[in-house]
Amino acid sequence: MATAIVYYSKHHGNTKKLLDALPGGVVLIDAENPSTTDLSAFDRVGFASGIYAGSFARQVMRFAQEHLPERKPVFFVATAAMKLKSHFTGITHACEQRRAVLLGSYICQGFNTYGPFKLVGGTSKGHPTQKEINEFLAFYNALR
Ligand SMILES: Cc1cc2nc3c(=O)[nH]c(=O)nc-3n(C[C@H](O)[C@H](O)[C@H](O)COP(=O)(O)O)c2cc1C
Repeated sequence: MATAIVYYSKHHGNTKKLLDALPGGVVLIDAENPSTTDLSAFDRVGFASGIYAGSFARQVMRFAQEHLPERKPVFFVATAAMKLKSHFTGITHACEQRRAVLLGSYICQGFNTYGPFKLVGGTSKGHPTQKEINEFLAFYNALR
């Protein structure tokens, strides 16, 4: 199945670490500097991001709003200091506007040194772990 994933992963590359474990053939599109904005040829589209101020990166949200064709199957991938369902609210809403079909979402912890957390050496050190990468691959392989 032709799959593209639009991503933003600038804090520690935590989210990209998950994506880099995917099998070849998955097209990764950097939301900040996209190689293409044409998603029409893909059977399904993933949106992947670190969580910043409770939300997917605005670059990913904007990409979904502007370039997601109507009625595409989509899935979400996120890393965050805290695993909260609410982190998906904004991107879910953006995709609903495009009448997307939600296939599923995956979230795990990601190393965080934002703001005061830097002073204590960061939180979620070592994440995503190999176990979380394997869980992500199992999630991906189960997508239809
Ligand atoms: C500016 C900034 C804001 C953040 N805000 C949140 C947040 O609201 N909730 C949360 O759980 N983690 C937050 N984090 C932690 C990141 O989501 C986490 O480190 C994530 O794994 C970063 O992904 P990346 O390395 O792929 O960019 C924030 C990090 C940064 C740098």
